[in-house]
Amino acid sequence: MLVKKLKSNLQDYDGKEVTLQGWVRTNRKSKNVSFIELNDGSTFSNLQIVYTPEMGGYDEATKITTGSAIEVSGVVKVTPEGKQPLEINATKITVLGMADHDYPLQKKRHSFEYLREIPHVRPRANTYYAIFRVRSVLSMAIHTFFQDRGFVYVHTPEITGNDAEGAGQCFTVTTIKNQDYEKDFFGKHAQLTVSGQLHVEPFALTYRNVYTFGPTFRAENSNTTRHASEFWMIEPEMAFADLSDNMDVIEDMVKYCINYVLEHAPEEMAFFERVIDKDCINRVKAVASSTFKRMPYSEAIEELQKAKGRFENNDIFWGMDLQSEHERYICEEVVGGPVFLTDYPKEIKAFYMRENEDGKTVAACDLLVPYVGELVGGSQREERYDVLKAKMDALGMDEEILQWYMDLRRFGGCVHSGFGLGFDRMLMYLSGIQNIRDVQPYPRTPRNLIF
Ligand code: 4AD
Ligand code: MG
Repeated sequence: MLVKKLKSNLQDYDGKEVTLQGWVRTNRKSKNVSFIELNDGSTFSNLQIVYTPEMGGYDEATKITTGSAIEVSGVVKVTPEGKQPLEINATKITVLGMADHDYPLQKKRHSFEYLREIPHVRPRANTYYAIFRVRSVLSMAIHTFFQDRGFVYVHTPEITGNDAEGAGQCFTVTTIKNQDYEKDFFGKHAQLTVSGQLHVEPFALTYRNVYTFGPTFRAENSNTTRHASEFWMIEPEMAFADLSDNMDVIEDMVKYCINYVLEHAPEEMAFFERVIDKDCINRVKAVASSTFKRMPYSEAIEELQKAKGRFENNDIFWGMDLQSEHERYICEEVVGGPVFLTDYPKEIKAFYMRENEDGKTVAACDLLVPYVGELVGGSQREERYDVLKAKMDALGMDEEILQWYMDLRRFGGCVHSGFGLGFDRMLMYLSGIQNIRDVQPYPRTPRNLIF
């Protein structure tokens, strides 16, 4: 029997005998009656097990340690007026796996730093227990959103021959120690993907609306709370869609995900509100019913110039790459909510973005949100062969590697757009958890690879 099933059919089980398995969160003993808080993994909240000396093996049961795996048989007692709406009066408790006394999660509150060192047991600590289920729920939200709208899910490769973003942040994949890639496994230089976008574009020119959803790798040596070396990204791509259509989809998707998680993980969200960020539910609810503002980059620069002096970097000029303090100022102070910044200078954006008529900017859109900063990066793609080629020439890019990508513009190319949503950042945004290391099961960051 799963606790989740029990809780959703309380009246059916009231007074009946059930058998459950799970892990002990606490075991409070006294002379005449003792209590075990049991969690079986099926729901966020624990189930109270009550046992008394009348039960055989009482003394042994009082010695069961925190973290142990047990099986309990007992009678269900529904107490709607009580502090616990439900408890089990145990008739038998069997230890399946006793936890040693050095079990690292004891009753006191542990710091995130301590818990990051023990990724094999931290899922059983409340914050992680909640966030890793929300990770699963949010994955389903993403798939449901796109599948309901007819998008085709494409598996783009993890090992690739190109650096899609051209930012030089690739991890090399090799089986040899020297740099002779011709003799290496693939007979050429291979790397872990930084983005599935280039590989998914051919599918958008086939199925019209597609998306990828998978791990992405970046060797950025930036030790921030928002960057991981391995993270998950959702990359939709849509044919016959321009930048404005793109932003409509982003906005719909973010709102859909918020509502889906509130509906499917209410206990977890209530926990975050209680313990992590008291505003998180109100904040995301407000976002779900708002209209996202759209602001050209040039206007954002004007706003930043007006606020000059209040940043760490006050060298504000048209053409600069915005730093996180600037992005946060725009969405937290100027707008007070999510905002799309559009039409960035072409020099600071990737080669594939479509050049605007002004010759200076590209049809890009970044979605900035309070607390997290950049949540989504997207653009309309350069569909004009000559313009794309000129751009790649100017950047000195190796066109041989990307000729196939350019050829798409000759084989029925059309206006198309897409974006990348940082899945881990979306979790941070929903929960209020401040560090990306606390929303990933096994975070990988510079100088950090545990297990
Ligand atoms: O802005 P980015 O680099 O865009 C792309 O990769 C495009 N190819 C997407 C596309 O148009 N198909 O990355 C997209 C998002 C960012 O907005 C951010 O949320 C997340 O991915 N991201 C990271 N998340 C965690 N750790 C990192 N190191 C990240 N780098 C980017
Ligand atoms: Mg970006």
